[in-house]
Amino acid sequence: MIARNILVTSALPYANGSIHLGHLVEYIQTDIWVRFQKMQGHTIYYVCADDTHGTPIMLRAEKEGISPETLIARVHAEHLRDFTGFHIAFDQYYSTHSDETRHYAEDIYQKLKAGGLIVTRSIEQLYDPVKNLFLPDRFVKGECPKCGATDQYGDSCESCGAAYAPTDLKNPYSAVSGATPVRKASEHFFFKLSDARCVDFLRQWTREGNHLQAEAANKMDEWLGEADENKLSDWDISRDAPYFGFEIPGETGKYFYVWLDAPVGYMGSFKKLCAEKGIDFDTYWNKDSTTELYHFIGKDILYFHALFWPAMLVNAGYRTPTQIFAHGFLTVNGEKMSKSRGTFITAESYLQQGLNPEWLRYYYAAKLNGSMEDIDLSLDDFVARVNSDLVGKYINIASRCAGFISKRFDGKLVEGEDYRLLQQEVDEHFADWQPGVIEVAYEARDFAAAVRHIMRRADEVNALIHTLAPWEIAKDAARVRELHRACSLGIQMFYLLSCYLKPILPRTAAQIEGFLNLSELSWQNQRAGQPLSSMLLPPGHVINSYQHLMTRIDPQQIAALIAANQQTMQAAMNTESYSLQRHGEAQQSAIALIADTISIEDFGKLDLRIARILDAQHVPGADKLLQLTLDIGSEQRTVFAGIKSAYDPEALKGRLTVMVANLAPRKMKFGLSEGMVLAAGDVHGGPFLLTPDSGAQPGMRVK
Ligand code: 2FM
Ligand code: ZN
Repeated sequence: MIARNILVTSALPYANGSIHLGHLVEYIQTDIWVRFQKMQGHTIYYVCADDTHGTPIMLRAEKEGISPETLIARVHAEHLRDFTGFHIAFDQYYSTHSDETRHYAEDIYQKLKAGGLIVTRSIEQLYDPVKNLFLPDRFVKGECPKCGATDQYGDSCESCGAAYAPTDLKNPYSAVSGATPVRKASEHFFFKLSDARCVDFLRQWTREGNHLQAEAANKMDEWLGEADENKLSDWDISRDAPYFGFEIPGETGKYFYVWLDAPVGYMGSFKKLCAEKGIDFDTYWNKDSTTELYHFIGKDILYFHALFWPAMLVNAGYRTPTQIFAHGFLTVNGEKMSKSRGTFITAESYLQQGLNPEWLRYYYAAKLNGSMEDIDLSLDDFVARVNSDLVGKYINIASRCAGFISKRFDGKLVEGEDYRLLQQEVDEHFADWQPGVIEVAYEARDFAAAVRHIMRRADEVNALIHTLAPWEIAKDAARVRELHRACSLGIQMFYLLSCYLKPILPRTAAQIEGFLNLSELSWQNQRAGQPLSSMLLPPGHVINSYQHLMTRIDPQQIAALIAANQQTMQAAMNTESYSLQRHGEAQQSAIALIADTISIEDFGKLDLRIARILDAQHVPGADKLLQLTLDIGSEQRTVFAGIKSAYDPEALKGRLTVMVANLAPRKMKFGLSEGMVLAAGDVHGGPFLLTPDSGAQPGMRVK
């Protein structure tokens, strides 16, 4: 094997929105690929960051009454929580609002400038005279110049599909203040994409060297035009103050446009990782680098990644991407995700409803084929496939065989003569496993093909187990060796299948490592001429007792998820800003399901304490929150609790309740919430605050 050095990125999500199931297509796709490469023994780093700059983030922070820095710090924690919940294992998850990103943005800009590739020009744009702000296209609204539809955005009409400039809108108004915008000129900085150094390079780069998928390369041909025409315009890379971003070096009141520093964030995040891990940054980014660089992106941002970004890099003396992997959009039940239908599903709500993240990882894997086609999350199909393939075919192999091994054979798989017989059976029945096909499919990001191949193999194993029928043999004491062999065979094949599913199901794989008593499931290559049976666990290998690995999806969980997202949107419409209460309401609408079983150790991670409510106050501007001051014996805490609808603050003073004392503090619009009080509630009523029995004292641990 030739060891490869690889750097991988996913697109940087904006720091003003929640991660939803559409985003997750990309992060899950990338994470599976990275985990596969790690299993191949390659050195691979996966970096990402929040995309933190721009007018929308600045305005959102202003609306919440907080600084942009506070907003992006909060969203960063939320994004990381959601990604971690879906087992996305970044080596670094950083922020574009960092010294590292600033450094490389300035460096690239200075080099482009020194090369004569930055020009300035005065341009006229719409300006909000009340907010004293140039308006991005999406912040100007008005009547469509073509069909007259009202309330259309400044770049295109949702009614007739026409594309236009914001200055073409009739009766325009600012979506920020409502004021009528005025035209105002200012000086802008442009990257000269029309320069021959960019055009000639891009013509070659997009067509040669396999940097782009065929569909993407065709799109580039369209954008670049024929050899004798130059369709590329210079790119406006500056924005005027007020703007949240990096000020352009040597200028006053001029900032880099967010899309200039966003991809530079890939470098910034990697630089941070290099500092932490002692990796040599230049080995990965110098222009002669022999390392590989891959960007996973959505097809909508191809333009930025396949034109602007390589042109910037090459002209600033850096390496260019090895390949850009674009994927399509997600539809849910065949339609665009919709807030009103409840199919605009956030990552947070999916996890809060207790759905297993690996169900989604598996379903997406089964759909992703490495092309730019859109993928559909059909919710009925999701339930059917997870239940029948993942649980019914794969997990079922272990659950059918493991009990006998534990109870009848002390956890030991066959050895000696029976092991040789088992090997014979394996080679006879599974002569055509071809694990190499799975490897090729993963490498090509055709996870759908990998999953199909693996599930066909699971079918074969199930068919053989069905024929051997251990549950029948078990009734006959004379056939104990046969029983041992049949169940050992099931476990051995389950082991191999698990190695190949590990990139998709990392958490289950970790549980299986415990169950199979292995330090890790590693990739099993079948070399030419080598029988499958040589890849099995050794004779007499001892396994641990089987704990259930994965439950089936109850369709009611999906109904609850949809209801929760519809409810969330309803709540979002009623409240101006993000609050904990919104999530409380979302949960109340759902059918209460018992969450996954946890261990006593899991429970022990919660530090629950008796708390005395010393003070309770209304929070100016909050419809649902009360500010509580709690005494937990050793210290006092401030907690914002969504219980205003049910409690008069005066009546709470002096009461005892229970709080989660080791919950990470959460910055809210109104202040820092340092924990959570516990209350019951559902569609029938609540919240009902918990009260301990008499005798309990502040600070006592609840366990
Ligand atoms: O489209 C988006 O969501 C952007 N925030 C993606 C940026 S990717 C990279 F260039 F930073
Ligand atoms: Zn129109």
